[in-house]
Amino acid sequence: MNNNEQSVIYLDHAATSWPKPPAVTEAVVNAMLNDAANPGRGSHAMAVRASRILFETRKQLAKLFNIKNPNDIAFTSNTTMSLNMAIKGWLKPGDHVIATSVEHNSVRRPLYFLEQTIGIEVTYVESDERGNLNIDDVAKAIQPNTTLAIVNHSSNLLGTIMPVADIAELARKHGIKLLVDAAQSAGIIPVDVRSMGIHMLAFPGHKGLLGPQGTGGLYIDPEMDLLPLLHGGTGSQSEAREQPQVRPDRYEAGTQNTPGLAGLKSGVQHVLNETVQNIHTKEWALTQRLIEGLLPVNGVKLIGPELGEQRTGIVAFNLEGIDPSELSFILDQHYRIAVRAGFHCTPLAHACAGTSATGAIRASVGIYTTEAEIDALKDAIKQIAQQYGV
Ligand code: ALA
Repeated sequence: MNNNEQSVIYLDHAATSWPKPPAVTEAVVNAMLNDAANPGRGSHAMAVRASRILFETRKQLAKLFNIKNPNDIAFTSNTTMSLNMAIKGWLKPGDHVIATSVEHNSVRRPLYFLEQTIGIEVTYVESDERGNLNIDDVAKAIQPNTTLAIVNHSSNLLGTIMPVADIAELARKHGIKLLVDAAQSAGIIPVDVRSMGIHMLAFPGHKGLLGPQGTGGLYIDPEMDLLPLLHGGTGSQSEAREQPQVRPDRYEAGTQNTPGLAGLKSGVQHVLNETVQNIHTKEWALTQRLIEGLLPVNGVKLIGPELGEQRTGIVAFNLEGIDPSELSFILDQHYRIAVRAGFHCTPLAHACAGTSATGAIRASVGIYTTEAEIDALKDAIKQIAQQYGV
């Protein structure tokens, strides 16, 4: 750990988790020192060890998400790349897509790009101000040309957990493919692609899975063929001009991030050891403690699910009369508390919450967050509210 950051109260896990379990850093360093030849690009011992790291990481992820064949997971650099791969690889001119009003820009922008370029149609189904979606509204949005439904498993602003299994049921009945954005749910709440009926799962390595930045992946149902986002060297079928059909090579052109994926393997192992359910239970309790502490503070307006309701480890709010960016600056400079202020790359969810004009402050917890850290944020907000005479 960087000594300068020893005393920081880090409540920005929804952006990236920090610190990582020590085994993650050790795995990255170990791979750099001993194993980081090019995976799949040679038959010498070090290249084989590098390939083995990728294979084992894929296996751990398959176990975590209940994916039958690990080769149906393609590694990417982040969730944005995974979502682009899914959206641009599946949609064709004239297709209609259903998404929700809590989607991140990493869904909204590729969809807008395809609306403008190849001509697709998109319906964003409105949720209420806390992010709750009425499944009947999703059903009403289905058209004969709907080929894809996209849902953010948990909003990165509101923390609301979306009804993935209900949407999957509708999608199944209508022959629509379901893409789940697990940026805020992988390693945070249980994800089971088979029992939840998920056709594509886009996930980050650097958030709930505790791996390094620059890692992520996309699960692709074996029945689906996506147009690859990238074309190039795979270390296989080098004589062919076409991108190979075989997975994961089809979706993994170019040298992979072996050290990062070694770290991701350790991160996923940590999550499997702790269990996702236990992580969620602990993080939920911390959110409840924070909400209970903030509710009585004059001028605080919380957004997202109410006290007692299910949510992920995210609590967003505003303090009347203070710009969220200023509040975040004060928290950082005077209290050494790291949160994220602004629009969180999700103008859609801010519109839902009624915070389009102001943005908000977002605190997000992680596996190492303590009750004392939650209390420090609560006390800081109380003090700032008093000083500003709110
Ligand atoms: N999407 C990430 C967040 O919500 C970066 O902060």
